[in-house]
This record gives sequence, structure tokens and C-alpha cells, in this order.
Amino acid sequence: MDNAVYLHHLDVLLQRYKEALSQFKLDAIVVASGALSYYYHDDNSHPFKPYAGAQQWLPFALPANCYVVIKADQLELIWPAKQDFWHMVNAVPEGEWQSAWQITPVENQDWVAALPTHCALIGPANLEGVPNLASLETWLDFYRAVKTDYEIECLSKASHIAAAGHKAASDAFLAGASEFEVHLAYLNATRQDAAYTPYPNIIGINEHAAVLHYEQKDHLRSFRPLTLLVDAGATYNGYASDITRTTLALNDDFKALHDDVNTLQQRIANQSLDGQSFIELHDQTVAGIADILRTHDLCSLSVEEQIAKRIPQHFYPHGLGHLLGLQVHDIGGRQINHAGDTKPSPAESPFLRLTRPLQENMVITIEPGLYFIPMLLDQLKADVPQHGCNFAKIDKLLPYGGIRIEDNVVVGKSQIRNLTREAFDAL
Ligand code: GLY
Ligand code: MN
Ligand code: MN
Repeated sequence: MDNAVYLHHLDVLLQRYKEALSQFKLDAIVVASGALSYYYHDDNSHPFKPYAGAQQWLPFALPANCYVVIKADQLELIWPAKQDFWHMVNAVPEGEWQSAWQITPVENQDWVAALPTHCALIGPANLEGVPNLASLETWLDFYRAVKTDYEIECLSKASHIAAAGHKAASDAFLAGASEFEVHLAYLNATRQDAAYTPYPNIIGINEHAAVLHYEQKDHLRSFRPLTLLVDAGATYNGYASDITRTTLALNDDFKALHDDVNTLQQRIANQSLDGQSFIELHDQTVAGIADILRTHDLCSLSVEEQIAKRIPQHFYPHGLGHLLGLQVHDIGGRQINHAGDTKPSPAESPFLRLTRPLQENMVITIEPGLYFIPMLLDQLKADVPQHGCNFAKIDKLLPYGGIRIEDNVVVGKSQIRNLTREAFDAL
């Protein structure tokens, strides 16, 4: 990526931080990447994920124990350089990015004494004499939803990496692979493991496709493979993709259902425009699922009757999507101002993670689904009188599990950019 795009990103971030410096009457803001965390009573650490507020400043995956010090006229990177014969001491990555930074390798915390008096810390760390300011963190979080061109480029690259993984996963499934083998095919194609995948890969064959966050990977091959649902991403400079594709082994009724969910998904994604209410898009999706249930003879009630009885939610129980960035569920989806006031999810859509109005250059996911989840179908039968659902047909579809289709979309003024479809088209 052109360094000018990164430098422009730094200008935007610095402008935001200068406003924060003035708002909180500070001379410097210190942002910690965080320390390694360990399994209970163990000396093995979890895969490290840096605090996003620190990662946002640097164009490479940030290691633990870094600090970014932001002053109005200087960017400084405090880099851990303590000698250690047990572990690799990270070298500072080479690159043009360095021209914007003062880089200070440190072996201890002496650098803290040189900070200005009016200084605050954000992130997962404690520094002697530097207060942690939660309200400052919240104030800065609000900005994170709207992405710079550099961030959109990173998110696009993360979609490209993941698309290659999804293609390999789908090919492996169609060749008869088990969930675990599909997982290996995905990792091999993306060249990313747990330190880089933004969340544990969800790889479900048949009924497992109906478990929304299915994280087991069966080693046994299915003797009658029907459906593969893969919800898996990748990272680039810390930025995540979050993509779901459903691959079908047969060209049957379930394929027709899949294609209608895909059409709905595209119709909704294309409405992700500046000023649009995401809650309203979610509601449109619920109505779209009701329409599909009616068209496919799964429920005889009209869309309006289904909505009144909350029938679609038994087949589509999650929210339409969320903000995407350095975190898969990026911060601030319900935050409506710098002070941290929130707009809660509507009572009828409690899982909706994005309630603030869409703004140009937010990056979001659009991920409707249609599942056959035994627990919810039992509830539907027990709790909804005159539900009109065709259980003779529904029961036949239980072995297929479900469908989810998830793209990563840049909100536009008059047109969206679908990072995920672009990536698949480029394969
Ligand atoms: N992969 C988690 C999600 O789609 O939100
Ligand atoms: Mn998602
Ligand atoms: Mn996902």
C-alpha cells in the first residue's frame, strides 16, 4: 500500500486526538498495546490481540508491551527491547512508516518519568503516575466507526485473504473433507493461524450449520454431506474480515432457498447508505425472511401475520450485522455521541449490535441467515398458536442445518462498496 495513504490516516487520527487533547486539557495521550494474558495457573499465554486503540496507529501487527505516545506535534512509539534469552525480542519493522514516528526502544519503565505532567493513559495497562481515563477512551471510541481510506484498504485486503480461504474450504468440502480438514484447507490458503484469524473459525457441516457459533471441528467425514457453513475471516495490519458462505452439495430445494437468501442479502447490502437506519434494515430483513418462508411453502401466513407472531425470528434469530474494523464486533455500534450515550437495541431485536445511523465510510457486515434450529422450532410449535408452519417440509430440511451469507460493506453516500464480493470476483 502506498505510504501516502497511511500518512493521510495518521493526519486524520492526529486531528481526532488533538481534539481530545484540547477537550481533556492534556499534553499527551499514552495508548498501551497491552500485555500477554495467561491460561489459569499456566505459563502458556493466549494468542495476543493488541488493544485496538494502539493498533490503529501502526501499519503492522503490534506486539505486546508497546506504547504509543501522542502529543500535538509528535508521534512516539515506545518499543519493548528488553533482552530475553527465552523469547524472540521483536525487531522494529522496517518501512517508510518510520518517517512519521520517533521510535524509542526501552528496557524498563524509565521513559514514563519523561512524560508531560498533564497526561492520560488508555488501554489495558497501568503506568505509575499516569491516570487511566475511561471517559477519554469512550470519547475516542466514537470516532472508530468511520474508517479512513487506509483502514478501508486494510479491510479490503483482509477480505481478499479470507476469500481465498473460503474458496479452498468450499472446494475441500465438495471433495468430501471433514470439518477439521476444511479448517486446515482454510488456514493453508490464508496462511493465518490463531494469532491472526480474527475469531475462531466456524465450520459446520449439515446440522452443525444450524449452530450459530459452532466452534468444534469434527474429524470424521460425513457420509452424506449436504451443507457447509463457513464463517471465517482474516486480518491485515490488525483489521479483520468477517465473511460467511454456505456451500451446498446438491442442486435441490435447499439450493433454491439459499439463492433467495442471497438475493435478499444483496438487496439489503445495497441499501447501506449514509443516513440509513440499520434498525430499519434489520426489520426489512426480517420481513424478507418471512417472504421467503411463505414463497417456499414453509409458512402459509402472510408476511404481516408472520411478523405479528414473531415467526421469522425462529428461523433468523440474530441481528443483521455490526461495525467491522480492528475488532470483529467493532466498538461503538450502539454509541451515539462522544460522551458515551447509547441507543439500546430494540426490545424485539435484542441481539442487534448496531443501532446508530449509518454514516459514509463506516464498514459493516450484512449477514442474514435462515436456519432450522431444533430448539427454536420446538418453541415455535409450543408457543405460537396457528403458526401456519409446514413441519412436514421443515423436518425434511433439518439435516441441512442452515444458511448464512455475510459480506463486509463500506457505507457510501449514494453507492456501497462490497469488499467481500470484490474479493471473490478477483479470485
Ligand atoms: N463471526 C461472528 C459474526 O459474524 O458476527
Ligand atoms: Mn459478523
Ligand atoms: Mn461472521
